[in-house]
Amino acid sequence: MEVKLKVKRFDGKKEYFEIYTVSIEDRTTILEALFHIKDYKDNTLSFRAQCRSAICGTCAVKIGDNQVLACKTKVKDFIQDNILTIEPAGNLPVIKDLVTDQAVFLDKLGDAKAWFEPKEEIEPVYPEDLKQFEKETDCILCGICYSVCPVFQTGQEFGGPINFVKIYRFWKDKNDALKDERLVIADKNKITACVHCKYCTFSCPKEIPVEQDILQLKFYGKQKGIIKEDQEGFGGFSTPFGF
Ligand code: FES
Repeated sequence: MEVKLKVKRFDGKKEYFEIYTVSIEDRTTILEALFHIKDYKDNTLSFRAQCRSAICGTCAVKIGDNQVLACKTKVKDFIQDNILTIEPAGNLPVIKDLVTDQAVFLDKLGDAKAWFEPKEEIEPVYPEDLKQFEKETDCILCGICYSVCPVFQTGQEFGGPINFVKIYRFWKDKNDALKDERLVIADKNKITACVHCKYCTFSCPKEIPVEQDILQLKFYGKQKGIIKEDQEGFGGFSTPFGF
């Protein structure tokens, strides 16, 4: 079937849309369609991809109101009136066409201490221990949760969904030395600024329960008196929803 792909372009100065006609099959992914354009129609089109199998996290794009991995998403699942509009992932500076600057959220991972700090005596890890943070280890740093988060549009101090997934993952690990220091880190990352819209959870291609993780961190952080209800130094913050 022949379809039209309307791709947002950016050449460093101006933004515009370009329409390409592509022949697809039922199984054709958005990434395959983009490669077809690049190989046969317009080799100036830029997009980012590496693994083509939902592992490297580099191919996130915006399709209408949805942010998806281009390599995991079929064209036929999102096409409307025979046209599919593809834009760069949201909340990120665009470098060229569909290529965004992922350093914006990757650089924030340092604020979350997003690495394992082993305690002195490592205990054996059993399947039931792994279940505590199994989903969170699936995070591929694609940034889709960041791209759909409304809080970033108003407050860059917010650590963001990825940071809280990482904080949760190591907080739940019985061999991590930082323990409740992870809750202090969550507080420093302004966790209470989360508006619980759940866009992160619904959009995560790995089905990580991001918003539930944030809720758990907040709940235990508040119970232990580590996380306060109101964040100091977050003056002027408000969301597009007025709360
Ligand atoms: S190309 Fe690696 S996640 Fe899509």
